[in-house]
Amino acid sequence: MNQLTRSDDPFTCRLGEQRKLVDPCSIVIFGASGDLTARKLIPALYHLCKEKQMPPDFRIVGFARREKTDAVWRQELRQSLDQFSRTQPVDEAVWQDFSARLFYCQGDLADPAAYAKLERKLVSFGSPPLRQNVLYYLATMPSQFAPAVEQLHRADLLHHSSAEAWQRVVVEKPFGHDLASALQLNDELTRYAREQQVFRIDHYLGKETVQNILMFRFANSIFERLWNRDSVDHVQITVGEKQGVGQRGGYYEEAGALRDMVQNHLLQVLSLVAMEPPVSLDAEAIRDEKVKLLKSIRPLLPEEVAQHAVRGQYFAGVVGGEIRPGYRQEPKVKSDSNVETYAALKLFIDNWRWSGVPFYLRTGKWLPSSASEVRIQFRPTPYVLFAAQCGQRLDANSLALRLQPDEGISLRFNGKVPGASVAVRPVRMHFSYDAEFGAYTPEAYERLLLEAMAGDATLFIRRDEVEIAWQIVDGIRRSWAGKPLSNREFYAAGTWGPVAADDLLAQAGHAWIEPMIMNRANNG
Ligand code: BG6
Repeated sequence: MNQLTRSDDPFTCRLGEQRKLVDPCSIVIFGASGDLTARKLIPALYHLCKEKQMPPDFRIVGFARREKTDAVWRQELRQSLDQFSRTQPVDEAVWQDFSARLFYCQGDLADPAAYAKLERKLVSFGSPPLRQNVLYYLATMPSQFAPAVEQLHRADLLHHSSAEAWQRVVVEKPFGHDLASALQLNDELTRYAREQQVFRIDHYLGKETVQNILMFRFANSIFERLWNRDSVDHVQITVGEKQGVGQRGGYYEEAGALRDMVQNHLLQVLSLVAMEPPVSLDAEAIRDEKVKLLKSIRPLLPEEVAQHAVRGQYFAGVVGGEIRPGYRQEPKVKSDSNVETYAALKLFIDNWRWSGVPFYLRTGKWLPSSASEVRIQFRPTPYVLFAAQCGQRLDANSLALRLQPDEGISLRFNGKVPGASVAVRPVRMHFSYDAEFGAYTPEAYERLLLEAMAGDATLFIRRDEVEIAWQIVDGIRRSWAGKPLSNREFYAAGTWGPVAADDLLAQAGHAWIEPMIMNRANNG
């Protein structure tokens, strides 16, 4: 090859090369009999083991109230793995190695003696790092987070800092149910652990496609210069779910879509889509920018909520040929419940980059498809040439970041229809993860557990992020509280939400765009 000619073959720039290897450690799962452990945590840890990403030595201790032996717990986990592992069948050799590292510790979270027992278990592994480096995963009720952390501290199992050893606490949402309770929880957690030891999970940040938002924006020179009010007309973020609340009616009655999805997942995606470039790739630098962005979201005055936020609730409808009951008929749901199973917001970001650009967010249960996407809708072309002749019918360019399923990115632009007549229509350019990288897509929890073991907090939520996000949704919730749903706020299961949500966009001449599903077979 001529020296002046460069190959166009893709070159992979590896960013994690200098990262230190994960130290030998123990992972203690509180709430080990729960669903999360069986469905997500154990399959994720098994896959990390299979991919040889676990530390050179590790143990996993399940802590729960029920009396059982290590052997019984291992057997139960094997059954869960057979059911929930993303790769099948389970690899016997990997399982043998993995299961030998699983131990069970019976105890009550409120009982100090149980922590002494836990300590004996950790010591029994016979290796100082396995006793000193510990990841405590609180897969428990949120009301148990603070007491567990306090007991760990009192039992000398959680220290503030040490050069040779680390202990970290991983917690799952909900982080409170409003700003006041989140502040209290954060105070309680950080009484016995430093903020740097608290790893708050939002599993959306573990998704490859969500992580790719920053790469896409800041590892390319062509998109970022369009990423502002000069080029972008509006942005739509949709997280659709083709499922109802199912057996989670009790939880959902307390939560609703705004708390369950918007306060965390949707605002996290929004902050990644809209934030300014961080000064470095450090966890704090990235989280600083996310916080700055969340702080720039224009707060809604009580009288503005109706113009900017819409809730909805599904009633019985047909989905996939089957009749689905309405939310009010779901188990553990009040027959006159006004809890929202759908929420849509129109937000403005009051900063230099985004001034005047509406960001529409929506999420709902029992929508027609389980599809999540960020759509950047660009401004129309000037009304000359083609636009002058086609008018509104000339499609405005758009970019769709398909978060799930059919993960990928699509750019939509206009092209000439081949033939003698002059006809213009939108065409698409697709990047698909599957085609480019193959079908290997690790589960969010794999990445998150690995990062927590490595002590990298980039993909976890800092306390100020949680608090600002509550501030944003609290005002909306207060305006909805006590008001019965109107007819315009109900939607049939299997449809794209209530009419009120269409009105929300129509005010500015916009309309929701259905997320793109490339392979419809995936979505039933
Ligand atoms: C959870 C919510 O946080 O996210 C659920 O509590 C929701 O109600 C789920 O179904 C959606 O996650 P995913 O990864 O399936 O989009």
